[in-house]
Amino acid sequence: MNDIKKFVRFYKSDFGRKVLAREANYLKKELKDRKKILDIGCGIGYFEEMLPGLNIIGLDNSREMLEEARKSSSKKFVFGDAEHLDFPEESFDGAFMVTTLEFLDDYKKVVDEVVRVLEPKGKFVAMILNPESEYFKSHMHKADSYFRKIKHTNLKEIESYISKLFAMTGEYFLGIRGQEVFDTRDKNLASLYVVKGVKV
Ligand SMILES: C[S@@+](CC[C@H](N)C(=O)[O-])C[C@H]1O[C@@H](n2cnc3c(N)ncnc32)[C@H](O)[C@@H]1O
Repeated sequence: MNDIKKFVRFYKSDFGRKVLAREANYLKKELKDRKKILDIGCGIGYFEEMLPGLNIIGLDNSREMLEEARKSSSKKFVFGDAEHLDFPEESFDGAFMVTTLEFLDDYKKVVDEVVRVLEPKGKFVAMILNPESEYFKSHMHKADSYFRKIKHTNLKEIESYISKLFAMTGEYFLGIRGQEVFDTRDKNLASLYVVKGVKV
């Protein structure tokens, strides 16, 4: 099965819907006061669909993902490379990435680009897979899991780089056990680690 089909199947499942709803809700709380937001690695665009009240531009380097995204949301989607964002400095006051930063070759370059395109006091939210979680470990055992494409699993290192450029906080989020989705800050159960930074 190709990646697009995997994502569509996941987000249309009861479990995927629950995950998506919690992630979207989190992003809404963090970014609701922002006027122009960039979603880097937007994939099939379900966050754009789930957050109709936010002014988001979705960016991805897969034309197939973008084609699928345009089916679910009328928001603007652009083709582009996260490591070389084709936007002038200070174009956005918000940016987010959901389970994307850890899959990219040079995450430092991406963070540098996010800083460049954000206005001073612009907010960056990165939801990163937590390699310590039961959820992550169970996926890594599956031969065809997308998680196996992950390139960076050292959260401390990623966080340390982001903290040089942003006033930041981090927290574990989104407990998953089997098909159950729940609130937790427990490092072993939280499927994500969220880094939230404000450009200084
Ligand atoms: C794991 S998916 C996450 C998609 C979406 N954020 C979600 O949570 O459903 C990572 C996405 O990043 C995109 N991507 C990978 N490398 C990229 C790059 N260099 N620039 C922009 N997007 C990229 C992929 O095409 C894919 O859609």
